[in-house]
Amino acid sequence: MKAVMTQDGSLTFWNDTVGEHYHSMTGAKEEAIRKFIEPCRLNQKQDDLVLLDVCFGWGYNTAAALDALHGRHVAIIGLEIDEQVLQSIPHYKAPFHSYPFIQQAMVNHYQKRIDGWNLSILVGDARMTIKQVPSGMIDCIFLDPFSPRKMPDLWTTEFLQELYRVLKSDGILTTYSCARSVRDNLRTAGFLVRDGPCVRRRGPSTIAEKDRQ
Ligand SMILES: C[S@@+](CC[C@H](N)C(=O)[O-])C[C@H]1O[C@@H](n2cnc3c(N)ncnc32)[C@H](O)[C@@H]1O
Repeated sequence: MKAVMTQDGSLTFWNDTVGEHYHSMTGAKEEAIRKFIEPCRLNQKQDDLVLLDVCFGWGYNTAAALDALHGRHVAIIGLEIDEQVLQSIPHYKAPFHSYPFIQQAMVNHYQKRIDGWNLSILVGDARMTIKQVPSGMIDCIFLDPFSPRKMPDLWTTEFLQELYRVLKSDGILTTYSCARSVRDNLRTAGFLVRDGPCVRRRGPSTIAEKDRQ
């Protein structure tokens, strides 16, 4: 796994098998904050949040959420297939105040509970582990697989329907992709879809919510 510096000074990694980086080269930390966390408006939601980090990887989206939620109660479920990545987390520094908490979880059987924070990683194929998540319990979903071209299985209508199932009625899903196929599949799964922010590129990210009418 080759570490690479992104333009905001935070590290990402190159995955040789997939042929992609784990984060945007324009800024790994910035991507987590601006494409995944800020559009969720976590601070407008009530206490005791439950978040789902799909494709947990190096945990940047979870770290950015925890940094934003300092002092609040939050439970995070992460879905990740690659234990090699999870076991590498304690060996790198990432520019998030909460990252030591995530690093401790990785050496504690992928679980950690402290001061109102509870992190638990379900290791395995997300298409299977998502079935362990009860319906209607999630406030926010961060959907962060490799690209639809490289990893189409995690962008299918079938998988997105599972994400719809676990989301609360006022829940929100954020993802970096604005691919037409992704948005079409989100709509078929039942989501209302709108543009997220444009972060250092012309195309927006995507925000998806349940149609509560
Ligand atoms: C773009 S990276 C995610 C980056 C991550 N959010 C972070 O902050 O580092 C995609 C991740 O999806 C994981 N992945 C690939 N296939 C998967 C599957 N079927 N189920 C769960 N995770 C998978 C990869 O191991 C990789 O860590």
